[in-house]
Amino acid sequence: MDESINLIKDSSINLDFNIVLTGFMGCGKTSVGKFLAQKIGFKVFDTDLYIENETGLTVSNIFKIYGEKYFRVLEKVCIKNLSSLSKIIISTGGGAILDNDNVKSLKQNGKIFLLDANFSTIISRLNSDFSRPLFKNKDSIKKLFYERKDKYIRTADFIIDANQSIEQICKDIISKIKIIKK
Ligand code: S3P
Repeated sequence: MDESINLIKDSSINLDFNIVLTGFMGCGKTSVGKFLAQKIGFKVFDTDLYIENETGLTVSNIFKIYGEKYFRVLEKVCIKNLSSLSKIIISTGGGAILDNDNVKSLKQNGKIFLLDANFSTIISRLNSDFSRPLFKNKDSIKKLFYERKDKYIRTADFIIDANQSIEQICKDIISKIKIIKK
């Protein structure tokens, strides 16, 4: 985590839509969501954490016990619920935008910001964290990364270079937000 991050709220920001963060596992959605929340004064919801709180199970255990299909059902319900709220940040799980209904829900009240990181950045951030159920080994994750790349780009309203510090990523998002407002 970057200790130099300036957490002072930017009072010039007054949005009336949700900020949705998308991107592959390890692109920084959770960290960016937390810092951005401080900056713009929005609450942040992480879809994986929401599901874990609702079910009392870790994402990893949901995959193990009930399978990915069931996780995707829970994810869809979670996204539908969160999308009905306004002025929040939604940090999505890496597979959320593969489902068109989820994209529709997320766009209904929000703008999608893709945190676009190179595969080498992803691998260094995941750093052998095998707690993610879909992160089995480097080859399988690479395949998934390239299979999904196009879908991430097609569903994004804004593409943010995520091969940078968390603070710089937040700054880039904020400058896009200011443009939309004009
Ligand atoms: C997934 C990404 C994970 C989590 C689940 C499935 C995916 O979230 O939702 O393990 O399909 O890419 P993160 O992107 O926060 O790791």
